[in-house]
Amino acid sequence: MTFVVTGSNGFIGYNNCRRLVEAGEKVIGVDDLSSGLAEDAVPGVQYHVRSVTEADWLVHLLQEERPRAVIHLAAVPRVAYSVAHPLPSTDVNLMGTLSVLNAIVKAGLVEHTRLVFASSSSVYGGAEVLPTPEIHPCNPQSPYGLAKLQAEHWCALFHRLYGLDVVSLRYFNVFGPLGRFGGAYSTVLPAWLHHLFVAPAYQPFLEGDGEQSRDFCFVGDVVQANIAAATRERGFAAEVFNIGRGAACTLLDLKAAIEEVVGNKPLPLERRPPRVGDVKHTLADISRARTELGFRPGEDFLAELRETAAWYRSQRPAPSAA
Ligand SMILES: NC(=O)c1ccc[n+]([C@@H]2O[C@H](COP(=O)([O-])OP(=O)(O)OC[C@H]3O[C@@H](n4cnc5c(N)ncnc54)[C@H](O)[C@@H]3O)[C@@H](O)[C@H]2O)c1
Repeated sequence: MTFVVTGSNGFIGYNNCRRLVEAGEKVIGVDDLSSGLAEDAVPGVQYHVRSVTEADWLVHLLQEERPRAVIHLAAVPRVAYSVAHPLPSTDVNLMGTLSVLNAIVKAGLVEHTRLVFASSSSVYGGAEVLPTPEIHPCNPQSPYGLAKLQAEHWCALFHRLYGLDVVSLRYFNVFGPLGRFGGAYSTVLPAWLHHLFVAPAYQPFLEGDGEQSRDFCFVGDVVQANIAAATRERGFAAEVFNIGRGAACTLLDLKAAIEEVVGNKPLPLERRPPRVGDVKHTLADISRARTELGFRPGEDFLAELRETAAWYRSQRPAPSAA
């Protein structure tokens, strides 16, 4: 089978391409390398350094390749960045998705190609019900979350208008190898591992009391969900699915877990005031994904943290020869 993966050189994209190639599939990667790295390339993948917003080019690519599925991951996925820069963020996160939807239809592939759209738990905003089911009202608190929700609606519209086979997966906090430190916009786990393994001079911090909790989902599980959604025999009618671990971890518990997996090395965090607009808790109700996608997230959080830490350790700059 042929798969197109957009955002192929990013964190989830790299892991997804690797799993597909290992399974013997043909994989076409599309990434403009705006944040992804050319070196994060999986041997065997055919890469195109292009933007998903290049509408005509994308139609042409799909006509040529006739993929069984497009796994659409390309995005500018930083919440804080989207608040500071709503235009470039929304251009990719919303218009880029519309461009992918348009390309499948214009390429004449509605009967042939399924779209798996990478949505986000940020569509919920601060959810009142935990674990949060997909039917929970959505109240995004950032341009990023709003663009993801609007993109889901565009997916649903393309299903209604053209019968497009499309599904949206709302990932919760994804972590794992290749989940790079994102500088000022980084999430806590990559930032803390960056300090421990790559740049000791970087001061890691904790905003608020640390009792806020997140549903941390391993990247291998997200890839499992993407492939299950891309290959399920029965098509989709623009359904949405939560993809998470289905378990919550406070930031203080995460700190303790990281300290344990790195051999009880202390992680000194500078305490900062709570971030304005920060959601206190996230926790996915994954029963729908379990039933309809056969989704089974891993159960050994410490082992997944260990694998992630090992990747960070491998990124440590070599000592200079001088
Ligand atoms: N990582 C998470 O915790 C998380 C959580 C929820 C949803 N998501 C979603 O999952 C998807 C993948 O996230 P990620 O963590 O791998 O992000 P990432 O930033 O690591 O990867 C995104 C990739 O998209 C590429 N890209 C950006 N704009 C592009 C464009 N116009 N055309 C082509 N490529 C472009 C970037 O160069 C990058 O390689 C995103 O849609 C994101 O919103 C991620």
